[in-house]
Order: sequence, then structure tokens, then C-alpha cells
Amino acid sequence: MSKPRVFSGVQPSGALHIGNYLGAIRNWVRMQDGNECFFCVVDAHAITVPQDPKRLRALTREIAALYIACGVDPERTVIFVQSHVPAHFEMTWIFNCITPLGWLNRMTQFKEKAGEQREQVSAGLYDYPVLMASDILLYDTDYVPVGEDQIQHIELTRDIAQRFNYLFGETFKLPQAIVQRAGARIMSLDNPEKKMSKSSESPMGTIDLLDEPDAIRQKIMRAVTDSLREIRFDESRKGLYNLLTIYELLSGQSREEIESHFAGRGYAELKRELAELVAESLRPIREKYREIMKDPQYIEDILARGAEKANAIAQQTLRRAKERVGLG
Ligand code: TYM
Repeated sequence: MSKPRVFSGVQPSGALHIGNYLGAIRNWVRMQDGNECFFCVVDAHAITVPQDPKRLRALTREIAALYIACGVDPERTVIFVQSHVPAHFEMTWIFNCITPLGWLNRMTQFKEKAGEQREQVSAGLYDYPVLMASDILLYDTDYVPVGEDQIQHIELTRDIAQRFNYLFGETFKLPQAIVQRAGARIMSLDNPEKKMSKSSESPMGTIDLLDEPDAIRQKIMRAVTDSLREIRFDESRKGLYNLLTIYELLSGQSREEIESHFAGRGYAELKRELAELVAESLRPIREKYREIMKDPQYIEDILARGAEKANAIAQQTLRRAKERVGLG
């Protein structure tokens, strides 16, 4: 029996933050047991908005190194760069031709990202979810571990797979999103109405995985909360709830334990303890990352091996799809 396949990815469009880690990458690391995993750095997704070419190439390597620093094991798991596997682009064209515009018009992330610039943003940004469907479907993926913001894209991926199968015969497996209850949506520290994001303008809202302890302390101590006193997991108190969620995920304690630990104590104490917990939890990631980056060839070799394995599988699936459609 072959193991279930897992696929996921991160865009190299900025530094990785604890939202990416708690919402996605930490779960990838766990899913390596018992599954065959493919973790991709999706550079072609990043260019749907303008990127500096040199920075994009460097960030692509840095993110691959961070996967490993977070615990992705290159001996067991395929780590690769999306643009190293041309089948993703070819597959996207075929899926473009069977995806109704109406489906793409419903994508909330496009609406949020395009905002008022709807007429100016690239066609690539609009088509972004179809490229994502290609990423997932080319590997006969069973599970896709992601944060909450990607659920709609995975539903669209299923719709595209089903439509292809209906039009051309059974070809693609229907993947399932894996979203954790806690951590699926970590909010910005300085605006808890918005999710923590790589593209946010304010550095005070995000904790990057490579932030030094002093920066972490400063950001957490200044995090926006409310004027109430009691420390409780209450979803309507968004700032506090977000801090407590991060505490819960990194400490491994239950909500009851955390609430009783902070009973009768103030927000400043919670923030101080949380800052230490975050700084300590990220320390091994930072250290391992620095170690890995001392030898750039190490990452190049892993990515070359990853591309070889990914290409072999993706090419087969693409060939199958082309045959069905009558291309060639
Ligand atoms: P990206 O690069 O925006 O984010 C990477 C992963 O991090 C999760 N995430 C969060 N989780 C919790 N709280 C947050 N504040 C937060 N911000 C981000 C995201 O849900 C994601 O899991 N389109 C994808 C990349 C992609 C992909 C794929 C993912 C391309 N192809 C195929 C899975 C399968 C994206 O932009 O993720």
C-alpha cells in the first residue's frame, strides 16, 4: 500500500511569520509521519504581484532553508521550487480552459488583494487559484495542510478536478484541506481585525520566524488588546484571543490551564510570558536556519533532487491529462 500524499506550499513574497508557522508549517512537520510529503516554494505565485528578481531568487532559497529549520526533513520529504517543474504551467493552461470565469469571480482572496485596483492588477493574480489547483492535482494529493485563508482555493481545486473528470473521464483525485482548529488564522498584533500577513505594511503586526528576541518582545508588549481585565479565551476579544492562541499553541497547555495560570494577573504579565515563550520557541529555528545558510550549496542540492522527483511525477500526470484532452 502506498502512503497518502500531502502537498502544500508557501509564496516567497516576504519573510515567513508565526502565522505561516502555526497555521501551516508546524502541521506539515507532523504530517511527515505516515505520509509522502511534497512541500513547494511557490515562486510562480509570488510574481502575480511585482517582485524584485534578485530578492525573489534569494527568498526562494531562504524559504526552503526555513522549511528545513522548522523540521521538514529533506531525507523523507520532497522540497522543491514550483518554477523548476514546468508541468505546473502547462497544467494551468489546460485547467484555465475548463474553469468558468464565474468560479474565479467568487474568490474572496482575489477581491481582497485586488481591492480598488481591480482593473490594474495582473491577469496572473486573477488566475492564481488555477495555478494552485495544478500544484495540488499534479501529485494525486490526498491532503493539503493550510491555514483558513486557503480553504476556498482548495474547494475550487476540487471543483476543477471534478469538472475535468466529468468532461474527460476519471483522471484526478479529489484532495482534502487539513486545517487545524487553533492557529488556522493568526491575527496581526497591531490590528487584530486583520490576519497576520507577509505583505502587511507595518512590521509591528507580524512576528517573523527570524526576528531576534528583542524585536519579539517589543512587538508583543505593544500588541493591541482591550481595556477589560480578565484573561479568558473569548473570541469576541480579538487581540487577547490571538495572544492566548499563540500561547496555547506554543506551550502545549490546555485553555483551562492557561486561564487558571493567568487568573487575577494582568495583560502585561501575559505579554511578558508570551514574549519569552515565543522567543524561546523560535530560537532553535533561527539557529538551525543560520547553520543551513552557511552552505548555500546544501540547499541547491536539495532543491535539485526535489525538482527531479517532482518532475517525474508531475510529467506523468500531465501526460495523462493531455492524452485525455486530445492534445498532441
Ligand atoms: P501563503 O504563502 O500566503 O501562506 C502559506 C501558508 O500559511 C498560512 N497562513 C496563515 N495561517 C494562519 N494564520 C495566518 N495569519 C496565516 N497567513 C498565512 C496559509 O494559509 C498557507 O497555508 N496560495 C498559497 C500558497 C500555495 C499553496 C499551493 C498552498 C500555492 N499553491 C498548493 C497549498 C497547496 C499561499 O499564498 O500561501
